[in-house]
Amino acid sequence: MKIYRFDKIDSTNEFLKKCDGLEERDVVIAKVQTAGKGRRGNSWVSLEGAGLFSFVLKEDEKIAQEEYLKLPLLVGYSLLKTLRRFEDLDYKFKWTNDIYLNEKKLSGILIEKIENNYIIGIGININNQIPEKIKEIAISLNDVTEKIYNLEEVIFTIIEDFFGEFERFKNGEWFKILKEINEKNYLFGKRIDIVYGKIKESGLAGEILKNGELEVFLGNQVKSYNVGEIHISRESKG
Ligand code: BTN
Repeated sequence: MKIYRFDKIDSTNEFLKKCDGLEERDVVIAKVQTAGKGRRGNSWVSLEGAGLFSFVLKEDEKIAQEEYLKLPLLVGYSLLKTLRRFEDLDYKFKWTNDIYLNEKKLSGILIEKIENNYIIGIGININNQIPEKIKEIAISLNDVTEKIYNLEEVIFTIIEDFFGEFERFKNGEWFKILKEINEKNYLFGKRIDIVYGKIKESGLAGEILKNGELEVFLGNQVKSYNVGEIHISRESKG
């Protein structure tokens, strides 16, 4: 396991993607990112005081490819549990892999794959202040508790906990984990717009299903959507 620390870097995910000979749990931590990446080509505002890091999960040949579709859910939910160890707040898990607090985004996760390595990138608003222009949609832990946290302690606990949760997953505990995830399902009962390709559908979000898909009620039809296929463009109370 290698640990890289940077005061400033473009993106911790990009850094790992360029490294040769990656090993399980290699981790890169940055104080600031100049080109932090979000999902779907979005950028991630990466200010000092936030937890900004990426680590490596090696692909396990014994695990079927489709099982890895659940990885975003596992990372997100494991992260929620770790955050609770630091502050017992009412975090919610927003399918597919965001953490919400007080109806605002606290953390985002970007998982990329290079060769047989999953690069798990996490951004969490911890000690940082949220810029005025995104205050309506984002929140930091410090906004709520006014405390300053030891970022490395939080980061290494998150990584350790994730590997513990992944062991549970490998040991066949997915149904238990899924039940816990559904208890924290932020979208449940919310009206959402789902966009895939040029198609947009509106419906009421339901449970996260055993294959990791989100169940959505569209009038008298029930559909389920795959993690990789869709984008939720709007959500509001059902
Ligand atoms: C999202 O919500 O769209 C995902 C945001 C992921 C941001 C983190 S910050 C650390 C890592 N490096 C990046 O460039 N992105 C991820």
